[in-house]
Amino acid sequence: MDKIKNRMNELIEIINKAIYEYYILDNPTLTDQEYDDAYTELQRLEKEYPELKREDSPTNRVGGEAVDSFKKVNHKTPMLSFDDIFNEEEIEDFDERIRKQVPSACYTLEPKMDGLSGSLIYEKGVLVRAATRGDGVTGEDITLNVKTIKSVPLRLTKDIDIEVRGEIYMSKASFEKLNKKNEAEGIKLFANPRNAAAGSVRQLDSKITATRDLDYMAYFIPNPEDYNIKTQKESIEFLHELGFATNIKLNGYGKNLKDIINYIEDLGKKRESLPFAIDGVVLKVDSLEDEKVLGFTARVPRWGIAYKFPAVQVLTTLKEIKYTVGRTGKVTPNAIFDPVHVDGSLVSKATLHNYDYIVSKDIRVGDVISIRKAGDVIPEVVEVKLDRRKDDSKETIMIDSCPICGSKLVKKDANHYCVNEHCDARHIESIEHYVSRDAMNIDGFGERIVEDFYNEGFVKSIVDLYHLDKYKKELMSMEGFGEKSITNLLDSIENSKSNSLERLLFALGIRYVGKKTAKILAMHYSTLDNLRNANYDELKNINDVGDVIAKSIVDYFNDEKNNSIINSLIDLGVNTKYLGKEINTESKVSGKTFVITGTLSKPRDVYKDELESLGANVTGSVTKKTDYVLVGDNPGSKYDKAKELGITIINEEEYNNLIL
Ligand code: IVH
Repeated sequence: MDKIKNRMNELIEIINKAIYEYYILDNPTLTDQEYDDAYTELQRLEKEYPELKREDSPTNRVGGEAVDSFKKVNHKTPMLSFDDIFNEEEIEDFDERIRKQVPSACYTLEPKMDGLSGSLIYEKGVLVRAATRGDGVTGEDITLNVKTIKSVPLRLTKDIDIEVRGEIYMSKASFEKLNKKNEAEGIKLFANPRNAAAGSVRQLDSKITATRDLDYMAYFIPNPEDYNIKTQKESIEFLHELGFATNIKLNGYGKNLKDIINYIEDLGKKRESLPFAIDGVVLKVDSLEDEKVLGFTARVPRWGIAYKFPAVQVLTTLKEIKYTVGRTGKVTPNAIFDPVHVDGSLVSKATLHNYDYIVSKDIRVGDVISIRKAGDVIPEVVEVKLDRRKDDSKETIMIDSCPICGSKLVKKDANHYCVNEHCDARHIESIEHYVSRDAMNIDGFGERIVEDFYNEGFVKSIVDLYHLDKYKKELMSMEGFGEKSITNLLDSIENSKSNSLERLLFALGIRYVGKKTAKILAMHYSTLDNLRNANYDELKNINDVGDVIAKSIVDYFNDEKNNSIINSLIDLGVNTKYLGKEINTESKVSGKTFVITGTLSKPRDVYKDELESLGANVTGSVTKKTDYVLVGDNPGSKYDKAKELGITIINEEEYNNLIL
């Protein structure tokens, strides 16, 4: 038995060393075959002698049981983030502020990794828990998922208790690979590596996370004094020694403003060629003693700041203008260009909005154009490089017939429309919209699948979705489908019948009824029938509805065809009642704590309900933990307290923008 145990330990050592060399040092010494052999042998021994299997075995990295939801965990020390700044002037202000208190301050300068922060807790050198940042106080337990990340050591080089913080991210290469795969499968693509990392780490089934090739970069120790660390630079060195991937080689050191600017410029030049996406530079006062002097505001550390790079613009050549038709019949021109890397993702398409936009910028096929992608926003064409235009270039002329059905387009305001109600493009788009995540949220329905099902004649309208089980046999014979995926899809369709009214309302695609309006209407009317019977004046008087939306709703319900679709949905058992609060954990304010004070335009409970449905907490008194204080007229002591604690104070308008 001892011999076997020793062999297993030996194999674990070989595998861990190989993982370390490959993922952390980028310098493998074992061949793939040797690695696979060791791994298979260990797996075999663990199966034969389960009692000898070690908790920190690298075979645990394939993921375990799926969970129903993530457990909440409280962070021992709050997981804060830094304030963002965007230009040299703000860097200068920051430096000046620091020097007022610590005249001789020096900074460590680090790439700002563009992923999501993760806290790792080790006990006696073994990884015992990993958590997301959440609202900074409470995060989610993602231990099973994080264990699948190869650059996260399951065991440190020292048997110590320590919490480590860093960024969970997806390399540009893995991101592209994942999106290619998703594209082939007709699954929605991730907008950038950050979204892909966040989506992968929040999988309830860690086996899926294991396939996603995530990475971890360590950059912070919350309690450095416990390890006799005196500077941030030493923190990084210590993390490196413990076996973590760090940016030890890319990080810089700054004694003055000039050093900082030089570092930012330098890193900006390297940005494109780095294997991971970064979105700025993090400046941290190096000496931990100095950090203590500077301390914290109510929200953020005073000893550090995050400088964000301006949105990148990249030049490319416009190859083609392709027109797509939306579910309202609106025809949108899209710029198709040679693929370029922007902000960590490969893009080859940008919206041109409408023909007026093309004319205003005089955009022509063959032009050199500059593309910008800011955050999650769809890329857009910023400008045409007129000096590089070819002599024979031709002005762009708008198409006059629908690219899908050929019927004549009609111009209304700035947009062109295909008004053929039977146009395939409109039907496909409306089905895609119906099943989408914010609408009926029917899992497993990528764009390509909707198109295939439509073309095969299985789903010609949203009503057909609920008859899809008729075609189970045919579906199973389609490429890329198996018994399990079809069953999941049909289950997901069935489950959508019990969605609350606001989802259905949004899913129906009534013009101008977005997610927020659908929610307001559902809360106001409770049932679809009440809304169907509402008249224009009544609708118009609802806060946030107004003239255009009211008219559109009335028109929608006056249409016989729409009513017949709705009646069919009702007959099929689709719920048409508002089911009360549905917590949206992905909203901007999810997990944030609000206090409401003063007289607002609506009763306070309206805001409270709205915030709670968006996943925020509303409390009665202002404390350090409050994130926002929503202030109306004549606020009292809560307002003063918020000011004293430096908590963000917002008025109604700012509130409305915040929850959008
Ligand atoms: S230190 C108190 N270092 O950017 C902040 N953060 O606002 C401790 N980030 O939420 C974090 N690269 O997710 C730190 N080198 C780096 C970072 C970094 C990226 C993220 C982090 C944090 C935000 C900073």
